[in-house]
Amino acid sequence: MRDISTQQIREKIENIVDLASQKTLKEQNSIKHIGIDPDKDIVVLIIVLTKLGGKEEKTIKRQLAKIIKLDLGFTGVKIQFEEKRIIESIVKKDVKFILIESGKGGVGKSTVACNIAYALTRLGKKVGIIDADIYGSSVPQILEMKHAYPMADENGKIIPLNAFGMEVISTEFFAEEGKPVIWRGAMLGSMIQNFFYDVIWDKNLDFIVVDCPPGTGDIALDLRTIVPTAKSILITTPHKSASHVACKAGYASKQLNHEIVGVIENMSYYINPVNNEKEFIFGCGGGEKVATDLQAELIAQIPINQPKHHESLFESDEEAGKIYDDIATLLTYNN
Ligand SMILES: Nc1ncnc2c1ncn2[C@@H]1O[C@H](COP(=O)(O)OP(=O)(O)OP(=O)(O)O)[C@@H](O)[C@H]1O
Ligand SMILES: [Mg+2]
Repeated sequence: MRDISTQQIREKIENIVDLASQKTLKEQNSIKHIGIDPDKDIVVLIIVLTKLGGKEEKTIKRQLAKIIKLDLGFTGVKIQFEEKRIIESIVKKDVKFILIESGKGGVGKSTVACNIAYALTRLGKKVGIIDADIYGSSVPQILEMKHAYPMADENGKIIPLNAFGMEVISTEFFAEEGKPVIWRGAMLGSMIQNFFYDVIWDKNLDFIVVDCPPGTGDIALDLRTIVPTAKSILITTPHKSASHVACKAGYASKQLNHEIVGVIENMSYYINPVNNEKEFIFGCGGGEKVATDLQAELIAQIPINQPKHHESLFESDEEAGKIYDDIATLLTYNN
């Protein structure tokens, strides 16, 4: 078998310029998929372009074939071109996408995502939430939403549900209660893309917060293609061993050119009600380590605690609520 990785192929082809936009494939995040079929010795590519079918596409096809076959020596290359759908027509041009990511599950990603979104609404911002965690969708529970099916308009576009003043769309809405996720026809293609293009978002949204699946999978890549301007926040726990996995997710984001707004250490400490002292039950230093490794900032440390007013959401009169207010303020200033 040839000893060339998909990453090496990416590096070889990412500087090809798309004549339609005068940008490189890397700059416009055109490379959606690179696969190698070792038996047939062919490379499979999915490339997203601004314009399909023209001489620009032919030129790129020729350049790709030259690199894959002549330079890298593969027998063949299969290229599928897809047309880039323009996100700006669906949401406000300067809507900010915030991806909440983590290396592993159970670190409080969904809780933090919902609380950041909720804190943004307290600042008067209009917020949408995309629960993109197809494996462990929990946003509807956190937002105390009863299982409900979103309505569709006459064109089959989905109308998001509302919770605490936020627009919400979740994989869970398309699953039957208590049963594994069963996708409707419309959702089968690229589920995440549908969340962006087939949902009628409020045209005045300021932020869309995305609860991403843990790890470094295809969905992050998909999101990157759809929203190149998205920014990431990485969630980790204080334990140093957890930080290693968190870094992996961070590196993937960096590779996709996603700006990392910062690292949040969740379940950082517990305030002992008896003596008001901080107890570092789950260890310490994890957040700091992830931030240093990724050259990002540790923007918050959230204590272990339970909300007073809601099931999982905090208000501004609570310690964690104040921390979320600070994060929200930071996000409104971060351009
Ligand atoms: N700071 C905290 N203090 C106490 N409990 C917390 C805190 N953060 C999260 N939790 C609890 O930890 C559990 C996991 O949180 P959550 O579902 O948000 O994590 P997740 O990373 O999204 O998990 P999954 O990988 O399953 O999606 C939940 O029961 C949540 O209420
Ligand atoms: Mg979750």
